[in-house]
Amino acid sequence: MNAPPTIPAPAGMLAELTHRCPLGCPYCSNPLELERASEELDTQTWKRLFSEAAEAGVLQVHLSGGEPCSRRDIVELTEHCAKLGLYTNLITSGVGLTRALFDALAAAGLDHIQLSIQDAEAESADRIAGYDGAFAKKIEIAKWIGEIGMPLTVNAVIHRANAARAGAMVVFAVKLGARRVEIAHTQYYGWGLRNRDALMPTRAQIEAAVAEVESLRETYKGVIVIDHVVPDYHARYPKPCMNGWGRRTFNVTPSGKVLPCHAAETIPGLDFWSVKDHTLGDIWRDSPAFNAFRGVAWMKEPCATCPRKEIDFGGCRCQALALTGDARATDPICYLSPHHAEVVAIATAEPPAEAPHYLYRRMKPLKAPV
Ligand code: SF4
Ligand code: FES
Repeated sequence: MNAPPTIPAPAGMLAELTHRCPLGCPYCSNPLELERASEELDTQTWKRLFSEAAEAGVLQVHLSGGEPCSRRDIVELTEHCAKLGLYTNLITSGVGLTRALFDALAAAGLDHIQLSIQDAEAESADRIAGYDGAFAKKIEIAKWIGEIGMPLTVNAVIHRANAARAGAMVVFAVKLGARRVEIAHTQYYGWGLRNRDALMPTRAQIEAAVAEVESLRETYKGVIVIDHVVPDYHARYPKPCMNGWGRRTFNVTPSGKVLPCHAAETIPGLDFWSVKDHTLGDIWRDSPAFNAFRGVAWMKEPCATCPRKEIDFGGCRCQALALTGDARATDPICYLSPHHAEVVAIATAEPPAEAPHYLYRRMKPLKAPV
């Protein structure tokens, strides 16, 4: 019999300040039905949340979106977090960030910027982003960041259209002056799942990209830290998604719903409490959604008796749902899952020769998500 899980304090908060974004990346982690500006929490409510987060033990706040710089109060919110002693990380596409706004954010106490890139070549990068000029803008932003010496992380999502330049993106991050680069392979839920056929790389592409990035670790030792997350669909074991459900971090949506992960709303039957009705501390501890998959007592076989269950927590609940229809199932990325063969079939299917056709992430919700 499994003991009830102890509830550790949360360490990180991802504040999705808005779903508005000028880019349309086809692997966006935001939900298919994006929340509109009229639904967003106001400045005072976000400030209250950051104060409650600090009280609950949160150390790091990720100011995210959408594009967080679409919020007119981004400087005021950053300053509030800094005053609370929270480490602030702005996760931005860079598009929409002016020099005046950047200087104001730095003066407000912003600690760190995480800048997304879509590719190491302008034409491809702008096509993936669905936005002409995005690539050039990122180079400009990185220059400003370098001028004041703010720490910069570059993050890149790998998929079929850019896998051949996985190593080039590490080199590009070095040129941009980043101290860290995160090379992540596409996660297939939300917009990524919707675009999976267009995004899925071949196994040969993946093997080449992984080998190239790994070989650069030695080349750039002491220059840049390379965070490289091995692609899910080609792995033997799943990732410990979110470091375990309700263990370390939580997300707040633009309208104030508090989620254990960004795709949690795809799981039917979960009751997500809102910051309009509860404090963050109460939600973290007591809300049904956070307690649904905390610990290991909810697990089915083969996870329930597996020695890895406290290492990967059975993988990703949202992926288990998306691929098996059951959020309690073993993540089918695991080779022990009865559904693993289906993952292998998807990952090894021969992609079409023509350029991928994306359904870009846009604010207008799909009428009938498929
Ligand atoms: Fe992880 Fe479950 Fe697979 Fe074991 S059976 S390795 S706990 S996903
Ligand atoms: Fe929801 Fe992995 S994205 S648990």
